[in-house]
Amino acid sequence: MDSTIRPVAPGDHARVVQIAAEGDFIECESNYLSFIADVGRLLCSTSEGEVVAFGGMIPVLDVAMVTDLFVAEAARGRGVGGRLLAELLDGRSRRMTFSAQHPAALAAYQREGMEPRGRLLYLSGSALGGGSPLTPAAWMHDRGDLVGHLAAQGTTVTANAVLIAENGGIEVLRLDAPNAIDECHQLLRAFDAGISVTMYVPEAHALAPWLLARDFVIIDHDVLCTTAGVDLPPTLAVLHPGLA
Ligand SMILES: CC(C)(COP(=O)(O)OP(=O)(O)OC[C@H]1O[C@@H](n2cnc3c(N)ncnc32)[C@H](O)[C@@H]1OP(=O)(O)O)[C@@H](O)C(=O)NCCC(=O)NCCS
Repeated sequence: MDSTIRPVAPGDHARVVQIAAEGDFIECESNYLSFIADVGRLLCSTSEGEVVAFGGMIPVLDVAMVTDLFVAEAARGRGVGGRLLAELLDGRSRRMTFSAQHPAALAAYQREGMEPRGRLLYLSGSALGGGSPLTPAAWMHDRGDLVGHLAAQGTTVTANAVLIAENGGIEVLRLDAPNAIDECHQLLRAFDAGISVTMYVPEAHALAPWLLARDFVIIDHDVLCTTAGVDLPPTLAVLHPGLA
């Protein structure tokens, strides 16, 4: 069988979006794919000239973060995903990803030296109301490329948080602050009581039990997988499950 691994071209985007949808990544679109290709690596596997898988990796400081790994349903379980992952990570020893709970995903990441280190909780709850509206401001932390990309998608950026208002609710995509609980409390008070709020919080961060004690519930989770010695920064309380 004729198979290759090569960079994704803009002309592949429609097929890549289709493969992502087969793996339940329905928000995948061209802007997202172009961002991954611009700042990192976006590769696809072909078989007999047809794209059958794609994967992405972006550098987060000196760590390679695997953003995506998707194989078309009909091509799964034959080594395609494993080979693509090895190519994405080639030359980079410090690695991380947030793995879905698919058994082949965890196996593939472990094969590449990334071990499960804890859960990233998808938490859903309600705003509290009674506070002042958020003030948009210049982002004060690292990952300026990521925050710039998110801002271009219509998010609100403050000094410590990135969030988007969509479908009548709020999705918090990043919160980076030494006093994350206070910041989060302020954020929840900035929106009318009862508005739904979703955020992605490492289970090991103190914000997780704080939110769970305030009626937030776990609606899903991914598994943080890293090579030895790679940790999330302690100030990072909320992060994007695909882009870290
Ligand atoms: C996860 C995924 C990318 C893996 O790609 P794949 O081509 O199917 O996987 P491979 O054939 O390369 O196998 C990778 C590893 O998983 C193991 N594996 C494959 N299918 C498996 C299954 N159904 N159950 C358990 N392990 C499995 C393989 O044995 C291999 O492990 P090894 O290297 O230790 O032998 C692919 O199945 C997929 O797209 N799944 C749906 C989307 C998804 O969950 N993506 C991950 C997002 S984090």
